[in-house]
Amino acid sequence: MKITFYGHACFGVEIDGTHLLIDPFITGNPMASHIDIEKIKADYILITHAHQDHVLDVEKIAEKTNALLVSNYEIVMYYGAKNLQGHPVNHGGTFKTETFSAKYVNAVHTSSFADGAYGGQPGGFVITAGDKSLYIAGDTAVTMDMKLIPMTTKLTAAILPIGDTFTMGVADAIIASDLVACSNVIGCHYNTFPPIEIDTDNAKKQFDNKGKKLTLLEIGDTLSI
Ligand code: NI
Ligand code: MN
Repeated sequence: MKITFYGHACFGVEIDGTHLLIDPFITGNPMASHIDIEKIKADYILITHAHQDHVLDVEKIAEKTNALLVSNYEIVMYYGAKNLQGHPVNHGGTFKTETFSAKYVNAVHTSSFADGAYGGQPGGFVITAGDKSLYIAGDTAVTMDMKLIPMTTKLTAAILPIGDTFTMGVADAIIASDLVACSNVIGCHYNTFPPIEIDTDNAKKQFDNKGKKLTLLEIGDTLSI
């Protein structure tokens, strides 16, 4: 699995030539101005919830790539009305292809579109391909539901929000990494806007003090797991 960071909470995940794109929010992110969305490949676009900082570029990229949207029922219906194809799931359900599976899991957050439309209940994804599994928490507080994940899945890495204010912050993300039983954490949802600015060196140090690894990718960089 190759994970590319496109800023904020947007990641590309490449699995044997299949391209997944998570929560595309690029053109509205000044820190990601060097990313050309025309060049982003996507066979599937996975959407955790309907907030603008997770869906801004869904339509543009889906229209260009013909990617299949995978998200909760309400979000898939919302884009279905705009003639974008999707596959709905709901919490506990798994979307399966020959290459990967993506289970929609709980997140404690909210979910509404910028136009006020209901965006269903927010979630995260557990993506599994071969012997690798990646947890994408989405926007969430730390929640005991995270404990359910390691009961079925040994995670290789976990993408957790660490910016506080709208999601958990660093201290709670460390607890979340305990709950999901994964010490290999990739941080997201920090420093994009003033309310979620954090001290990244201190964040890494806090994870390090607990014997855990926090990776903070530069926008555009790729990590193999
Ligand atoms: Ni959100
Ligand atoms: Mn968000």
